[in-house]
Amino acid sequence: MRKLKLKDITVSSDSSIKNAMHLLDRGGLRLVFVIDEKKLLGIVSDSEIRKSILKGTSVSENVKNILNPNPVVLQEIQLNNQYETKMVIRKLIQKMPGSTHILLVDNQKNVKDLINISTLIKENQFPFKKNYQHNKRILVIGGAGFLGCILVPKLLKRGYKVRILDNLMYGSSHLSPILAHTNCELLEGDIRNISTLVLALSDVDAAINLAAIVGDPACKNDPESAIETNYLANKAVAETCKYFQVNRFIYASTCSVYGQMEGNDELNENSALNPVSLYAKSKIQSEEGILDLMDENFSPTILRMGTLYGYSPRMRFDLVANAMTKTAISEGKIHVHAGGKQWRPMLSVEDAAEAYIKCLEAPLEKIRGEIFNVGSEVQNYQILDIAQIIKKSFPKAQLIVEKESFDPRNYLVSFSKIQKILKFKTKHTIDSTTKQIVKAIKSGEIKNVNDAKYYNIVIDS
Ligand SMILES: NC(=O)c1ccc[n+]([C@@H]2O[C@H](COP(=O)([O-])OP(=O)(O)OC[C@H]3O[C@@H](n4cnc5c(N)ncnc54)[C@H](O)[C@@H]3O)[C@@H](O)[C@H]2O)c1
Repeated sequence: MRKLKLKDITVSSDSSIKNAMHLLDRGGLRLVFVIDEKKLLGIVSDSEIRKSILKGTSVSENVKNILNPNPVVLQEIQLNNQYETKMVIRKLIQKMPGSTHILLVDNQKNVKDLINISTLIKENQFPFKKNYQHNKRILVIGGAGFLGCILVPKLLKRGYKVRILDNLMYGSSHLSPILAHTNCELLEGDIRNISTLVLALSDVDAAINLAAIVGDPACKNDPESAIETNYLANKAVAETCKYFQVNRFIYASTCSVYGQMEGNDELNENSALNPVSLYAKSKIQSEEGILDLMDENFSPTILRMGTLYGYSPRMRFDLVANAMTKTAISEGKIHVHAGGKQWRPMLSVEDAAEAYIKCLEAPLEKIRGEIFNVGSEVQNYQILDIAQIIKKSFPKAQLIVEKESFDPRNYLVSFSKIQKILKFKTKHTIDSTTKQIVKAIKSGEIKNVNDAKYYNIVIDS
């Protein structure tokens, strides 16, 4: 590949916008630098040009009129400090995703060099890990979601430093209290972007991957994103962990990989998988892709969780128990789909988060390359049972059993492996968490239960 030269992407301050556009076309970056006598005056990117043309600016006008005078650049003094260098690169990639080069300047903004970001990363090797050995840094990918918002505060409370990587599909307003913690940082980005993965993973001690297009309806609605995120990007996450020797890697999978069981025996981690949705298939492919990468420096663990329920700052009312609680409050009705005889293991989001902590802190030999079902046999319910538990809290609510629809998902699961190896026990019940949800609604914390932000798409059971 041709080496990018600074002169190929530089214009002087007396150039026209049209001149800059020619260089943008030929230069290979999505920007040109405006430099006079080695002094950086600013940058002009394709977005600045587009905006100015839309405003009616003529392309014969001077670039000075549209340039951004404060682009992200690397100061010579920062180059000597690996941490600061990294922070600057992170800022550049956040502001201009896909950037490949950064300008090196002195404290007078005199241009010193044009640096290839990949070379910089390789040369630095990001050996910051050692600084954090006594206060480990955990990357929680998808940490802004329903489960992430319960797990992250628990990790912070235990003294970990936490970095959340999330593309904030469901907004970020619920994150403010979590981000107020000095040991928590947010990297807004998409796991489908390799540069983002490199920045997020290069200096962490362990990673937990919760990011996904979650649930059958959401995957059915956007199959391309589901395959990209749940399978391809997840594999890239694991590859990046392995590259940076992030040994402990915990992947969020689901008991829905068991799909439609044959017979009535509880299914364990070695049982045949029978997925009935793209969501479950993408999770199986990811599990396999991740476990294939295992070696002496990469020790993945797969957690197959039951269907979650309970309160979270990123509330979800599209999960079966939460949806029933919501309609009991808002409509005085509890809907049961597809007859309600289907078996579903249920797990409170609080207990789920504890399972991740157990895994994070377990001796490596106990969890390396292992798959664990997460839940408890006592919470293997038929959907109708769940409705009846919730009805106890809302005795006046009408139970409506819809028999017309069909739900092929039906699985009874064994949790003896996680109980035995990690001493994992569930503490929360549907009954106790229902009270917490009611409190959040009655207190006005949750103002409108039908707000789209509480749903990954349409109601899922
Ligand atoms: N909720 C359940 O019942 C349940 C059950 C079993 C397993 N799981 C698994 O647990 C994990 C967390 O589920 P949840 O209920 O918290 O879901 P959620 O949808 O609330 O959270 C997922 C998070 O991932 C983020 N995300 C999605 N695509 C991304 C991308 N391309 N790049 C960066 N971030 C991205 C979203 O913004 C969101 O914050 C998922 O992997 C899910 O498959 C959930």
